[in-house]
Amino acid sequence: MPTKRHAHAAFSLKRRDLLTGSAAVLAIGTLAPAAFAAPDPSLKDFGAARGIAFGCAVGAKDLAANPDLAAAIARDCAIVVPENDMKWGAVEQVRGKPDYQASEAVADFAKRNSMDLRGHTAVWYLNMPAWAKQDITGPQGRDLILKRVRDVMGHFRGRVVEWDVINEMIDHTSGRADGMREWPPFAAGDVGFIADCFFAAKEADPHARLVYNDFGFEYVSAGEDQRRLTALRLMEQLKTRDAPIDGFGIQSHLKVGNNFKPQTFRRFLADIADFGLDISITEFDIDDQRLAPEIEARDAAVAEHARLFLETAFEEPAVKKLLTWGYSNRNTWLNAHRPRKDGIPHRALPLDDSMNRTPMWDAIADCLKNAPDRR
Ligand code: G3I
Repeated sequence: MPTKRHAHAAFSLKRRDLLTGSAAVLAIGTLAPAAFAAPDPSLKDFGAARGIAFGCAVGAKDLAANPDLAAAIARDCAIVVPENDMKWGAVEQVRGKPDYQASEAVADFAKRNSMDLRGHTAVWYLNMPAWAKQDITGPQGRDLILKRVRDVMGHFRGRVVEWDVINEMIDHTSGRADGMREWPPFAAGDVGFIADCFFAAKEADPHARLVYNDFGFEYVSAGEDQRRLTALRLMEQLKTRDAPIDGFGIQSHLKVGNNFKPQTFRRFLADIADFGLDISITEFDIDDQRLAPEIEARDAAVAEHARLFLETAFEEPAVKKLLTWGYSNRNTWLNAHRPRKDGIPHRALPLDDSMNRTPMWDAIADCLKNAPDRR
């Protein structure tokens, strides 16, 4: 009997042939009725029926080199975010000479496929141009950062529905009493500088929803317990300053075997929502490092972890977006940045490296379908 995964593989092939106008399918008359049957609902359809925008991160290079990935994303996603192409280091390697070619390619892909565009990320301490790494440590550091916010958000003004204005400013290992990152433009002051970035962002693109994005809030551990408290304090301080912040991004780089306690995460989501903020799950994927290599068991454990996490997340009506970080296992950042010790590729995402659905795809579909309606 074919397994669910095999059935999905057959579907993916048919769909791909249809999308590419394959002569093989079109020439064989008996296949035509099946090929032209109504397509399966996609993750974006399941999400739309509940008021949750589903999408993923992808890079311009990956889109150009992987037409099958591009077709799969166009079919399943209502929103995309450039994985790296809008980062400062990608855009402005030469000071004062921004190059938006790659980020525009992703924006164009989104537009051609009627998808929304997320912006990632105006301010981040990583992936900076070499010249800026130097200059932000000096007296002009804050002005440079504010200029970067105005430049990139101004360039895309009116085209991005939601921006990560600030990424990863919490650092529970910094030794600072406030739990924030030790980073030159921030070190001399307080939350006021983060608020200033949001004010600059609002001016640059008044219609984009403005988000603070960070990782490490999902599990129970001493570090993550502290990070959740720091995040709540930060949101309170930004609200006290009337900073124009609309949302909180929870990256959700998960790892099978970490200690997920639904009630702890659920409480955190409710506490964030109490500030009047929307919540976006911005970089969902699952590290399978701790699992034995066998694929079916790995896929099952990854899907189960996804299901538990997403069921909990979607209980909170403020959660209105879910984006995976990459869409196919062929292109996950984990293989380069967090390689498994046995050297085999991760099974982290909704599609495998042949663009067939993994059990994680089914888990996401079920959780979207079962989510309370927040439209
Ligand atoms: O494209 C160049 C290639 O031309 C060059 O030969 C090669 C040599 O180093 O580098 C390639 O660029 C790399 C790029 O990924 C594309 O693969 C960069 O070195 C590498 O630093 C970059 O890593 C990205 C990382 O952020 C740092 O910017 C990952 O792809 C990306 O997935 C990751 O994404 C972050 C989010 O922005 C924030 N949250 C965590 C998440 C995962 O770390």
